[in-house]
Amino acid sequence: MNQSVNDRPTPPPVDPEDAFHTSTKETLLPLPTTPDLDPPGADRIGLTPAEVDQFREFGYVIKRGLVPPAEFAAIIDFWWQQPPVVSTGAVRDDPGTWISPRRYWPRDNRWGLEDNWMGSHPWPGPTDPRPGANIGERVGRLPFKLTRDRANDVWRWHGIGHDPAFVEVSAAHPSVLHMVELLLGGPVKRPRRSRGIYALFPKDPSEPASRLGPHMDDNPTELLVSMILEDIGPREGGFTLYPGSAQALYPTSAQALNWVATEHSPAAMDDVKANIQPIEFTGKAGDVVFCHGWTVHSAGIHDGKRIRMAAFHDLNKVRRRGHLRWTAAGKHGGPRVNCDMDGILTIPVDGVDDPADGWREVTQQWLVDSNEFVLDRSPPFDDMFKQWNLGRQEAAGHIVKEPAWWEKYNMPLLPAGSVPRGGGGVPAAPLTSVATYEGDGRWRFPLKGNNWMGQVE
Ligand SMILES: [Fe+2]
Repeated sequence: MNQSVNDRPTPPPVDPEDAFHTSTKETLLPLPTTPDLDPPGADRIGLTPAEVDQFREFGYVIKRGLVPPAEFAAIIDFWWQQPPVVSTGAVRDDPGTWISPRRYWPRDNRWGLEDNWMGSHPWPGPTDPRPGANIGERVGRLPFKLTRDRANDVWRWHGIGHDPAFVEVSAAHPSVLHMVELLLGGPVKRPRRSRGIYALFPKDPSEPASRLGPHMDDNPTELLVSMILEDIGPREGGFTLYPGSAQALYPTSAQALNWVATEHSPAAMDDVKANIQPIEFTGKAGDVVFCHGWTVHSAGIHDGKRIRMAAFHDLNKVRRRGHLRWTAAGKHGGPRVNCDMDGILTIPVDGVDDPADGWREVTQQWLVDSNEFVLDRSPPFDDMFKQWNLGRQEAAGHIVKEPAWWEKYNMPLLPAGSVPRGGGGVPAAPLTSVATYEGDGRWRFPLKGNNWMGQVE
Protein backbone atom coordinates (compact mmCIF):
# COMPACT_ATOMS: atom_id res chain seq x y z
CA MET A 1 0.00 0.00 0.00
CA ASN A 2 1.38 3.37 -0.97
CA GLN A 3 0.70 5.61 2.03
CA SER A 4 1.35 8.76 0.06
CA VAL A 5 -1.71 8.23 -2.10
CA ASN A 6 -4.07 6.35 0.15
CA ASP A 7 -3.80 7.63 3.70
CA ARG A 8 -6.60 10.11 3.23
CA PRO A 9 -10.11 9.77 4.69
CA THR A 10 -12.56 7.26 3.29
CA PRO A 11 -15.67 9.05 2.00
CA PRO A 12 -19.10 7.63 2.82
CA PRO A 13 -20.16 5.02 0.25
CA VAL A 14 -22.54 6.08 -2.51
CA ASP A 15 -24.73 4.08 -4.83
CA PRO A 16 -22.74 3.56 -8.07
CA GLU A 17 -25.91 4.01 -10.10
CA ASP A 18 -26.57 7.47 -8.65
CA ALA A 19 -25.87 10.71 -10.50
CA PHE A 20 -25.08 14.01 -8.77
CA HIS A 21 -27.99 16.43 -9.12
CA THR A 22 -30.04 18.93 -7.15
CA SER A 23 -33.75 19.64 -7.07
CA THR A 24 -33.76 23.23 -8.36
CA LYS A 25 -35.15 23.70 -11.84
CA GLU A 26 -32.86 24.64 -14.71
CA THR A 27 -33.61 28.02 -16.22
CA LEU A 28 -32.15 28.18 -19.72
CA LEU A 29 -32.94 26.23 -22.87
CA PRO A 30 -30.01 24.93 -24.92
CA LEU A 31 -28.54 26.56 -28.02
CA PRO A 32 -27.34 24.35 -30.89
CA THR A 33 -23.64 23.82 -31.58
CA THR A 34 -23.63 24.94 -35.19
CA PRO A 35 -20.22 24.64 -36.89
CA ASP A 36 -19.87 28.43 -37.26
CA LEU A 37 -19.43 28.56 -33.46
CA ASP A 38 -16.55 26.06 -33.44
CA PRO A 39 -13.07 27.42 -32.83
CA PRO A 40 -10.64 27.04 -35.76
CA GLY A 41 -9.55 23.44 -36.22
CA ALA A 42 -12.84 21.64 -35.60
CA ASP A 43 -12.79 20.14 -39.08
CA ARG A 44 -9.51 18.27 -38.63
CA ILE A 45 -7.87 15.98 -36.14
CA GLY A 46 -5.60 17.69 -33.61
CA LEU A 47 -5.93 20.50 -31.10
CA THR A 48 -5.42 24.12 -32.10
CA PRO A 49 -4.51 26.77 -29.49
CA ALA A 50 -8.09 28.10 -29.72
CA GLU A 51 -9.45 24.62 -28.99
CA VAL A 52 -7.12 24.21 -26.03
CA ASP A 53 -8.30 27.58 -24.69
CA GLN A 54 -11.92 26.51 -25.10
CA PHE A 55 -11.30 23.22 -23.31
CA ARG A 56 -9.56 24.94 -20.42
CA GLU A 57 -12.38 27.42 -19.95
CA PHE A 58 -15.43 25.39 -20.96
CA GLY A 59 -14.33 21.76 -20.72
CA TYR A 60 -15.32 20.54 -24.18
CA VAL A 61 -14.21 20.40 -27.79
CA ILE A 62 -16.08 19.23 -30.90
CA LYS A 63 -14.37 17.49 -33.80
CA ARG A 64 -16.43 17.42 -36.99
CA GLY A 65 -16.40 14.31 -39.15
CA LEU A 66 -13.88 12.59 -36.90
CA VAL A 67 -15.19 9.10 -37.70
CA PRO A 68 -16.40 8.42 -41.26
CA PRO A 69 -20.04 7.21 -41.11
CA ALA A 70 -19.24 4.38 -43.52
CA GLU A 71 -17.23 2.78 -40.70
CA PHE A 72 -20.28 2.37 -38.45
CA ALA A 73 -22.94 1.87 -41.16
CA ALA A 74 -23.11 -1.88 -40.46
CA ILE A 75 -23.80 -1.17 -36.78
CA ILE A 76 -26.73 1.07 -37.74
CA ASP A 77 -28.06 -1.70 -40.00
CA PHE A 78 -27.76 -4.06 -37.03
CA TRP A 79 -29.64 -1.57 -34.83
CA TRP A 80 -32.65 -1.85 -37.13
CA GLN A 81 -32.70 -5.62 -36.64
CA GLN A 82 -32.99 -5.50 -32.84
CA PRO A 83 -36.10 -6.42 -30.81
CA PRO A 84 -36.98 -2.87 -29.67
CA VAL A 85 -37.34 -1.93 -33.34
CA VAL A 86 -38.65 -5.13 -34.88
CA SER A 87 -41.30 -5.62 -32.18
CA THR A 88 -42.81 -2.21 -32.96
CA GLY A 89 -43.11 -2.75 -36.70
CA ALA A 90 -40.95 0.32 -37.35
CA VAL A 91 -39.89 0.68 -40.98
CA ARG A 92 -36.56 2.32 -41.71
CA ASP A 93 -37.76 4.54 -44.55
CA ASP A 94 -41.12 5.43 -43.00
CA PRO A 95 -40.70 8.02 -40.21
CA GLY A 96 -44.38 7.76 -39.38
CA THR A 97 -43.67 4.33 -37.86
CA TRP A 98 -40.99 5.60 -35.46
CA ILE A 99 -43.21 7.59 -33.10
CA SER A 100 -43.44 6.69 -29.39
CA PRO A 101 -42.67 2.97 -29.78
CA ARG A 102 -42.94 2.26 -26.08
CA ARG A 103 -46.57 1.27 -26.40
CA TYR A 104 -45.29 -1.85 -28.15
CA TRP A 105 -42.47 -2.60 -25.73
CA PRO A 106 -43.06 -5.23 -23.04
CA ARG A 107 -42.96 -3.94 -19.48
CA ASP A 108 -40.82 -6.86 -18.52
CA ASN A 109 -37.89 -6.61 -20.92
CA ARG A 110 -35.32 -9.36 -20.62
CA TRP A 111 -34.09 -9.77 -24.16
CA GLY A 112 -30.55 -10.93 -24.69
CA LEU A 113 -29.91 -12.40 -21.24
CA GLU A 114 -28.48 -15.69 -20.13
CA ASP A 115 -29.81 -17.61 -17.16
CA ASN A 116 -26.84 -16.56 -15.07
CA TRP A 117 -28.38 -14.37 -12.37
CA MET A 118 -26.70 -15.35 -9.09
CA GLY A 119 -24.84 -17.97 -11.09
CA SER A 120 -27.66 -19.97 -12.59
CA HIS A 121 -31.01 -18.18 -12.33
CA PRO A 122 -33.02 -16.32 -14.99
CA TRP A 123 -32.72 -12.54 -14.70
CA PRO A 124 -35.59 -11.52 -12.42
CA GLY A 125 -38.63 -9.54 -13.49
CA PRO A 126 -40.44 -6.95 -11.38
CA THR A 127 -42.66 -9.48 -9.62
CA ASP A 128 -40.39 -12.53 -9.46
CA PRO A 129 -39.25 -13.97 -6.14
CA ARG A 130 -35.52 -13.29 -5.77
CA PRO A 131 -32.79 -15.57 -4.52
CA GLY A 132 -30.88 -12.69 -2.93
CA ALA A 133 -33.01 -9.57 -2.75
CA ASN A 134 -36.41 -8.11 -2.11
CA ILE A 135 -38.94 -8.65 -4.90
CA GLY A 136 -38.81 -5.72 -7.31
CA GLU A 137 -35.25 -4.70 -6.40
CA ARG A 138 -33.48 -3.21 -9.37
CA VAL A 139 -31.45 -5.58 -11.51
CA GLY A 140 -29.10 -2.87 -12.76
CA ARG A 141 -28.86 -2.04 -16.41
CA LEU A 142 -30.24 -4.41 -18.99
CA PRO A 143 -28.64 -4.90 -22.42
CA PHE A 144 -31.71 -3.24 -23.91
CA LYS A 145 -32.82 -0.58 -21.44
CA LEU A 146 -36.16 0.83 -22.54
CA THR A 147 -37.63 3.79 -20.70
CA ARG A 148 -39.99 6.71 -20.96
CA ASP A 149 -37.86 9.76 -20.06
CA ARG A 150 -39.61 13.08 -19.50
CA ALA A 151 -41.55 13.01 -22.77
CA ASN A 152 -39.55 10.80 -25.08
CA ASP A 153 -39.19 7.05 -25.38
CA VAL A 154 -35.55 6.05 -25.02
CA TRP A 155 -33.69 2.88 -25.87
CA ARG A 156 -30.24 2.65 -24.37
CA TRP A 157 -28.57 -0.25 -26.10
CA HIS A 158 -25.86 -1.12 -23.60
CA GLY A 159 -25.55 -4.60 -25.07
CA ILE A 160 -23.79 -3.28 -28.17
CA GLY A 161 -21.38 -1.37 -25.91
CA HIS A 162 -19.16 -4.41 -25.35
CA ASP A 163 -19.30 -5.59 -28.94
CA PRO A 164 -15.70 -5.57 -30.19
CA ALA A 165 -16.67 -4.43 -33.70
CA PHE A 166 -18.64 -1.51 -32.28
CA VAL A 167 -15.91 -0.50 -29.84
CA GLU A 168 -13.41 -0.50 -32.71
CA VAL A 169 -15.40 2.07 -34.72
CA SER A 170 -16.47 4.21 -31.76
CA ALA A 171 -14.81 4.48 -28.32
CA ALA A 172 -11.55 2.90 -29.48
CA HIS A 173 -11.51 4.34 -32.99
CA PRO A 174 -7.92 5.42 -33.71
CA SER A 175 -8.97 9.04 -34.33
CA VAL A 176 -10.90 9.12 -31.04
CA LEU A 177 -7.93 7.68 -29.14
CA HIS A 178 -5.63 10.20 -30.86
CA MET A 179 -7.79 13.05 -29.55
CA VAL A 180 -7.99 11.50 -26.08
CA GLU A 181 -4.20 11.30 -25.95
CA LEU A 182 -3.90 14.94 -27.04
CA LEU A 183 -6.32 15.96 -24.30
CA LEU A 184 -5.53 13.66 -21.38
CA GLY A 185 -2.02 12.60 -22.28
CA GLY A 186 -0.78 9.04 -22.22
CA PRO A 187 -0.88 6.33 -21.24
CA VAL A 188 -4.47 6.17 -22.42
CA LYS A 189 -6.52 3.14 -21.43
CA ARG A 190 -7.96 1.56 -24.54
CA PRO A 191 -11.66 1.19 -23.70
CA ARG A 192 -13.17 -2.28 -23.84
CA ARG A 193 -16.75 -1.14 -23.73
CA SER A 194 -18.82 1.99 -24.15
CA ARG A 195 -22.23 2.81 -22.75
CA GLY A 196 -23.60 1.89 -26.16
CA ILE A 197 -26.06 3.54 -28.54
CA TYR A 198 -28.74 5.76 -27.05
CA ALA A 199 -31.78 6.33 -29.26
CA LEU A 200 -34.36 9.03 -28.47
CA PHE A 201 -37.53 8.45 -30.42
CA PRO A 202 -39.81 11.16 -31.77
CA LYS A 203 -42.99 11.60 -29.77
CA ASP A 204 -46.58 12.14 -30.63
CA PRO A 205 -47.26 15.91 -30.67
CA SER A 206 -50.08 15.43 -28.19
CA GLU A 207 -47.62 14.30 -25.54
CA PRO A 208 -46.09 16.79 -23.08
CA ALA A 209 -43.04 18.80 -24.09
CA SER A 210 -39.70 17.22 -23.27
CA ARG A 211 -37.44 19.03 -20.81
CA LEU A 212 -33.94 18.85 -19.46
CA GLY A 213 -32.68 16.81 -16.52
CA PRO A 214 -29.23 18.24 -15.70
CA HIS A 215 -26.91 16.03 -13.67
CA MET A 216 -23.30 14.95 -13.42
CA ASP A 217 -22.46 11.28 -13.82
CA ASP A 218 -20.95 10.22 -10.54
CA ASN A 219 -18.43 7.75 -11.90
CA PRO A 220 -14.66 7.78 -12.39
CA THR A 221 -14.64 9.02 -16.00
CA GLU A 222 -12.04 11.53 -17.11
CA LEU A 223 -13.43 12.21 -20.58
CA LEU A 224 -17.06 11.75 -21.51
CA VAL A 225 -17.26 11.33 -25.28
CA SER A 226 -20.35 11.38 -27.46
CA MET A 227 -20.49 10.54 -31.15
CA ILE A 228 -23.39 11.44 -33.43
CA LEU A 229 -24.53 8.42 -35.45
CA GLU A 230 -27.31 10.07 -37.48
CA ASP A 231 -27.49 13.80 -38.31
CA ILE A 232 -29.00 15.86 -35.47
CA GLY A 233 -30.54 19.31 -35.90
CA PRO A 234 -31.71 21.83 -33.28
CA ARG A 235 -34.29 20.46 -30.81
CA GLU A 236 -33.75 16.96 -32.16
CA GLY A 237 -32.44 15.49 -28.93
CA GLY A 238 -28.80 16.56 -29.16
CA PHE A 239 -26.75 15.67 -26.07
CA THR A 240 -26.95 18.77 -23.89
CA LEU A 241 -24.14 20.05 -21.75
CA TYR A 242 -23.29 23.04 -19.55
CA PRO A 243 -19.98 24.56 -20.70
CA GLY A 244 -17.68 25.33 -17.81
CA SER A 245 -19.71 23.30 -15.32
CA ALA A 246 -16.84 20.88 -14.59
CA GLN A 247 -14.69 23.89 -13.70
CA ALA A 248 -17.43 25.08 -11.32
CA LEU A 249 -17.84 21.72 -9.60
CA TYR A 250 -14.20 20.63 -9.46
CA PRO A 251 -13.05 22.76 -6.50
CA THR A 252 -16.01 21.56 -4.43
CA SER A 253 -14.95 17.89 -4.63
CA ALA A 254 -13.00 16.36 -1.74
CA GLN A 255 -10.77 14.58 -4.25
CA ALA A 256 -9.10 15.47 -7.54
CA LEU A 257 -9.58 12.21 -9.40
CA ASN A 258 -12.70 10.73 -7.78
CA TRP A 259 -15.80 12.89 -7.58
CA VAL A 260 -16.59 13.19 -3.87
CA ALA A 261 -19.34 15.75 -3.31
CA THR A 262 -19.00 18.03 -0.30
CA GLU A 263 -21.31 20.51 1.41
CA HIS A 264 -20.25 23.07 -1.22
CA SER A 265 -21.22 20.96 -4.23
CA PRO A 266 -25.03 21.44 -4.29
CA ALA A 267 -24.71 25.25 -4.38
CA ALA A 268 -22.24 24.99 -7.25
CA MET A 269 -24.68 22.75 -9.13
CA ASP A 270 -27.56 25.14 -8.49
CA ASP A 271 -25.43 27.99 -9.80
CA VAL A 272 -24.62 26.02 -12.97
CA LYS A 273 -28.29 25.36 -13.64
CA ALA A 274 -29.28 28.96 -12.99
CA ASN A 275 -26.54 30.80 -14.82
CA ILE A 276 -24.79 28.71 -17.48
CA GLN A 277 -26.18 28.71 -20.99
CA PRO A 278 -26.46 25.03 -22.01
CA ILE A 279 -25.67 23.85 -25.52
CA GLU A 280 -27.08 20.91 -27.45
CA PHE A 281 -24.66 18.90 -29.56
CA THR A 282 -26.00 19.17 -33.10
CA GLY A 283 -24.18 18.13 -36.24
CA LYS A 284 -23.61 15.33 -38.66
CA ALA A 285 -22.96 11.63 -38.29
CA GLY A 286 -19.36 11.13 -37.23
CA ASP A 287 -19.09 14.40 -35.28
CA VAL A 288 -17.66 13.81 -31.81
CA VAL A 289 -17.69 15.92 -28.64
CA PHE A 290 -15.10 15.39 -25.90
CA CYS A 291 -16.11 16.71 -22.46
CA HIS A 292 -14.46 16.76 -19.08
CA GLY A 293 -15.99 13.82 -17.19
CA TRP A 294 -17.50 16.08 -14.53
CA THR A 295 -19.46 18.17 -17.04
CA VAL A 296 -23.10 18.72 -16.10
CA HIS A 297 -25.25 17.35 -18.90
CA SER A 298 -28.70 16.14 -19.82
CA ALA A 299 -30.55 14.13 -22.41
CA GLY A 300 -31.53 16.59 -25.12
CA ILE A 301 -34.91 18.13 -25.80
CA HIS A 302 -36.44 16.26 -28.71
CA ASP A 303 -39.35 17.83 -30.52
CA GLY A 304 -38.25 16.58 -33.94
CA LYS A 305 -39.38 13.81 -36.24
CA ARG A 306 -36.17 11.76 -36.48
CA ILE A 307 -34.61 9.19 -34.18
CA ARG A 308 -31.74 10.77 -32.24
CA MET A 309 -28.93 8.24 -32.38
CA ALA A 310 -25.72 8.84 -30.48
CA ALA A 311 -23.06 6.76 -28.78
CA PHE A 312 -21.55 7.51 -25.35
CA HIS A 313 -18.10 6.53 -24.16
CA ASP A 314 -15.95 6.78 -21.02
CA LEU A 315 -12.26 7.44 -21.67
CA ASN A 316 -9.48 7.44 -19.12
CA LYS A 317 -5.78 7.36 -18.53
CA VAL A 318 -4.15 4.24 -17.23
CA ARG A 319 -4.02 4.77 -13.47
CA ARG A 320 -3.58 2.69 -10.38
CA ARG A 321 -7.10 1.70 -9.52
CA GLY A 322 -9.05 1.48 -6.33
CA HIS A 323 -11.91 -0.89 -5.68
CA LEU A 324 -14.66 -1.81 -8.03
CA ARG A 325 -17.85 0.06 -7.16
CA TRP A 326 -19.99 -2.78 -5.81
CA THR A 327 -23.54 -2.47 -4.52
CA ALA A 328 -25.54 -5.10 -2.61
CA ALA A 329 -29.32 -5.39 -2.64
CA GLY A 330 -31.23 -5.49 0.63
CA LYS A 331 -33.23 -8.52 1.75
CA HIS A 332 -36.26 -8.94 4.00
CA GLY A 333 -36.97 -5.23 3.63
CA GLY A 334 -33.44 -4.19 4.56
CA PRO A 335 -31.72 -1.33 2.71
CA ARG A 336 -29.33 -1.50 -0.25
CA VAL A 337 -25.73 -1.01 0.87
CA ASN A 338 -22.72 0.13 -1.15
CA CYS A 339 -18.99 -0.54 -1.10
CA ASP A 340 -16.69 2.27 0.03
CA MET A 341 -13.28 3.22 -1.36
CA ASP A 342 -11.58 0.84 1.07
CA GLY A 343 -13.54 -2.09 -0.37
CA ILE A 344 -15.70 -2.40 2.74
CA LEU A 345 -19.42 -2.97 2.57
CA THR A 346 -21.20 -2.61 5.91
CA ILE A 347 -24.65 -4.05 6.51
CA PRO A 348 -26.50 -2.74 9.57
CA VAL A 349 -26.38 -5.24 12.41
CA ASP A 350 -29.53 -3.98 14.11
CA GLY A 351 -31.95 -4.45 11.21
CA VAL A 352 -34.21 -7.24 10.01
CA ASP A 353 -31.64 -8.28 7.41
CA ASP A 354 -29.01 -10.76 8.62
CA PRO A 355 -25.66 -9.05 7.90
CA ALA A 356 -23.84 -12.38 7.69
CA ASP A 357 -26.15 -13.59 4.92
CA GLY A 358 -23.89 -13.76 1.85
CA TRP A 359 -26.61 -15.07 -0.44
CA ARG A 360 -27.30 -11.49 -1.46
CA GLU A 361 -27.29 -9.93 -4.94
CA VAL A 362 -24.21 -7.88 -5.71
CA THR A 363 -23.98 -5.78 -8.88
CA GLN A 364 -22.05 -2.82 -10.24
CA GLN A 365 -22.64 -0.13 -12.89
CA TRP A 366 -21.67 -2.49 -15.68
CA LEU A 367 -22.46 -0.22 -18.60
CA VAL A 368 -19.32 1.92 -18.14
CA ASP A 369 -15.72 1.11 -19.02
CA SER A 370 -14.42 2.96 -15.96
CA ASN A 371 -16.02 1.16 -13.05
CA GLU A 372 -13.13 1.31 -10.58
CA PHE A 373 -12.21 4.19 -8.30
CA VAL A 374 -8.88 5.91 -8.83
CA LEU A 375 -6.53 4.80 -6.02
CA ASP A 376 -5.06 8.29 -5.58
CA ARG A 377 -7.19 10.34 -3.15
CA SER A 378 -5.37 13.67 -3.56
CA PRO A 379 -7.45 16.79 -2.93
CA PRO A 380 -8.27 18.98 -5.96
CA PHE A 381 -5.24 20.58 -7.58
CA ASP A 382 -4.91 24.35 -7.97
CA ASP A 383 -4.99 23.71 -11.71
CA MET A 384 -7.62 21.08 -12.51
CA PHE A 385 -5.73 20.29 -15.71
CA LYS A 386 -2.44 19.75 -13.92
CA GLN A 387 -2.20 16.14 -15.10
CA TRP A 388 -3.64 16.77 -18.57
CA ASN A 389 -1.75 17.15 -21.82
CA LEU A 390 -4.05 19.65 -23.58
CA GLY A 391 -2.01 19.61 -26.74
CA ARG A 392 1.37 20.22 -25.11
CA GLN A 393 2.82 17.04 -26.58
CA GLU A 394 1.99 15.36 -29.84
CA ALA A 395 0.08 12.09 -29.63
CA ALA A 396 2.63 9.28 -29.67
CA GLY A 397 0.18 6.38 -29.78
CA HIS A 398 0.64 5.67 -26.08
CA ILE A 399 -2.48 3.49 -25.85
CA VAL A 400 -2.49 0.59 -23.38
CA LYS A 401 -4.61 -2.55 -23.61
CA GLU A 402 -5.37 -2.73 -19.92
CA PRO A 403 -7.58 -5.68 -18.95
CA ALA A 404 -11.24 -4.77 -18.61
CA TRP A 405 -12.61 -4.50 -15.07
CA TRP A 406 -14.86 -7.52 -15.61
CA GLU A 407 -11.83 -9.57 -16.57
CA LYS A 408 -9.90 -8.42 -13.49
CA TYR A 409 -12.79 -9.55 -11.30
CA ASN A 410 -13.73 -12.60 -13.38
CA MET A 411 -17.30 -11.46 -14.04
CA PRO A 412 -19.28 -12.62 -17.09
CA LEU A 413 -20.22 -9.87 -19.53
CA LEU A 414 -20.01 -10.91 -23.16
CA PRO A 415 -22.91 -12.78 -24.74
CA ALA A 416 -22.37 -16.52 -24.57
CA GLY A 417 -24.32 -19.69 -25.20
CA SER A 418 -27.54 -18.95 -27.06
CA VAL A 419 -27.44 -15.20 -26.35
CA PRO A 420 -26.99 -13.33 -29.62
CA ARG A 421 -24.60 -10.49 -30.38
CA GLY A 422 -26.03 -7.29 -28.89
CA GLY A 423 -27.02 -8.97 -25.63
CA GLY A 424 -25.09 -9.97 -22.54
CA GLY A 425 -24.29 -7.91 -19.47
CA VAL A 426 -23.02 -8.56 -15.97
CA PRO A 427 -25.54 -10.41 -13.79
CA ALA A 428 -25.75 -10.26 -10.01
CA ALA A 429 -23.34 -12.50 -8.12
CA PRO A 430 -23.75 -13.79 -4.57
CA LEU A 431 -21.96 -11.50 -2.11
CA THR A 432 -20.26 -14.51 -0.58
CA SER A 433 -18.61 -15.33 -3.95
CA VAL A 434 -16.85 -11.97 -4.24
CA ALA A 435 -16.24 -10.77 -0.66
CA THR A 436 -15.29 -12.12 2.77
CA TYR A 437 -17.31 -11.63 5.94
CA GLU A 438 -15.32 -10.21 8.85
CA GLY A 439 -18.13 -9.95 11.39
CA ASP A 440 -20.04 -6.93 12.74
CA GLY A 441 -21.73 -6.47 9.37
CA ARG A 442 -18.46 -5.90 7.51
CA TRP A 443 -17.75 -7.53 4.18
CA ARG A 444 -14.34 -6.98 2.56
CA PHE A 445 -13.78 -7.04 -1.20
CA PRO A 446 -10.34 -7.89 -2.57
CA LEU A 447 -8.56 -5.26 -4.69
CA LYS A 448 -7.58 -6.79 -8.02
CA GLY A 449 -7.41 -3.69 -10.19
CA ASN A 450 -3.62 -3.39 -10.42
CA ASN A 451 -2.52 -7.01 -10.46
CA TRP A 452 -2.03 -6.78 -14.24
CA MET A 453 0.67 -4.17 -13.62
CA GLY A 454 2.51 -6.61 -11.39
CA GLN A 455 1.51 -4.49 -8.39
CA VAL A 456 -0.53 -6.21 -5.73
CA GLU A 457 -1.83 -3.71 -3.17
FE1 LIG B 1 -25.56 11.24 -17.59
